[in-house]
Amino acid sequence: MRTQVAIIGAGPSGLLLGQLLHRSGIDNVILERHTGEHVLSRIRAGVIEQGAVDLINEAGVGARMQREGLIHDGTQICFAGERHRIDFRALTGAGVMVYGQTEITRDLMDGRAASGQSTVYEAQDVSLHDFAGEKPRVRYRNDGKETEVACDFIAGCDGFHGVSRQSVPRDSIRNYERVYPFGWLGLLSDTPPVSEELIYIHHPSGFALCSMRSHARSRYYLQCSLAEQVEDWPDERFWHELRLRLDREAQERLVTGPSIEKSIAPLRSFVAEPMRFGRMFLAGDAAHIVPPTGAKGLNLAASDVWYLSRALIEFYREKSTAGLDQYSDRALARIWKAERFSWWMTMLLHTFPDSSEFDRKVQLAELDYLVKSRAAATALAENYVGLPY
Ligand code: APR
Ligand code: PHB
Repeated sequence: MRTQVAIIGAGPSGLLLGQLLHRSGIDNVILERHTGEHVLSRIRAGVIEQGAVDLINEAGVGARMQREGLIHDGTQICFAGERHRIDFRALTGAGVMVYGQTEITRDLMDGRAASGQSTVYEAQDVSLHDFAGEKPRVRYRNDGKETEVACDFIAGCDGFHGVSRQSVPRDSIRNYERVYPFGWLGLLSDTPPVSEELIYIHHPSGFALCSMRSHARSRYYLQCSLAEQVEDWPDERFWHELRLRLDREAQERLVTGPSIEKSIAPLRSFVAEPMRFGRMFLAGDAAHIVPPTGAKGLNLAASDVWYLSRALIEFYREKSTAGLDQYSDRALARIWKAERFSWWMTMLLHTFPDSSEFDRKVQLAELDYLVKSRAAATALAENYVGLPY
């Protein structure tokens, strides 16, 4: 088999890249380890910056998002029992789109099926070869059969646990990492959201987040310890603990119901440098992870794909390697800004097991400063909507 770009992974990064390349006449194959249903069963965040919205539209799969997505012009921050609003629109002129990442993946998969480009689900033992030279190849097994794909380039879009980053010689890559001493327990339910906007909550018992997927579907999170299991959290316990962390008005408005999904995710900051190794390029979670507090995961994946798709299109149209040569530096400049913002939001809002009384007082002072200072609120709003990149 031969293709121009072999893409590893059918998450948002791989599917979006495949779609953009296809629309520019560049042939590509996607190799995905799991089934499509399995990929769609993972519940992930749902806040999309305008830049990512534009790219999804450009990929030709934005129609449902435009119909069903919710435009949010601000967010709410709650601490010391009081809720405060950060007005994105007034402070920056921009808002964000609230639309589940799972739905984006579904729209991309539908677009992929319509494109006629090849996608191999349940591709086992994917391995990457000779990407340091001119003729890279990818091998995989499917239905007991070995296949080799010869290509011009490999795009490693296979997430944090993928094979692409692992295929790079150890002395050619450097990893930067911070692991946080807590996780997020998420619950999805078909209940109306407690608020029209997201509420980020700082509380002595731990951070909480009230988010949504639609006017009828809510997504809530509670900071939890890493020792805890989902089985420790029957729905009643979750709702009880969430209510404790809410302000009074939200406590009264909260509508509870059976969970449709519940899961615990650890929080991690991670960056691998560089993101290019000869003819192999990393994009999305394969190269970096942010804690979800800043809602940047999918947006960063989209910005990598923006740089990489432009660079590949430029290569095939103009025979220029300029974009490919600059890809890693350009992508990393944005990634580190989003890493900083996500780290800062995480430090600001969570309760740290080893923090002192002094640390907690400073945290509250910073929150108070944030909601009283126009400059501080503007900095948060700009980062959240994705402007300073
Ligand atoms: N071979 C083939 N496919 C693989 C392999 C492998 N060895 N390893 C992993 N994959 C697949 C996974 O099954 C998954 O479907 O790669 C895909 C990677 O998808 P994601 O983990 O969703 O990563 P990405 O597409 O970069 O999406 C980034 O999704 O993970 C969230 O928060 C993250 O919002 C961000 C966005
Ligand atoms: C979500 O809706 O799942 C969500 C929203 C905002 C975040 C993280 C997750 O910061």
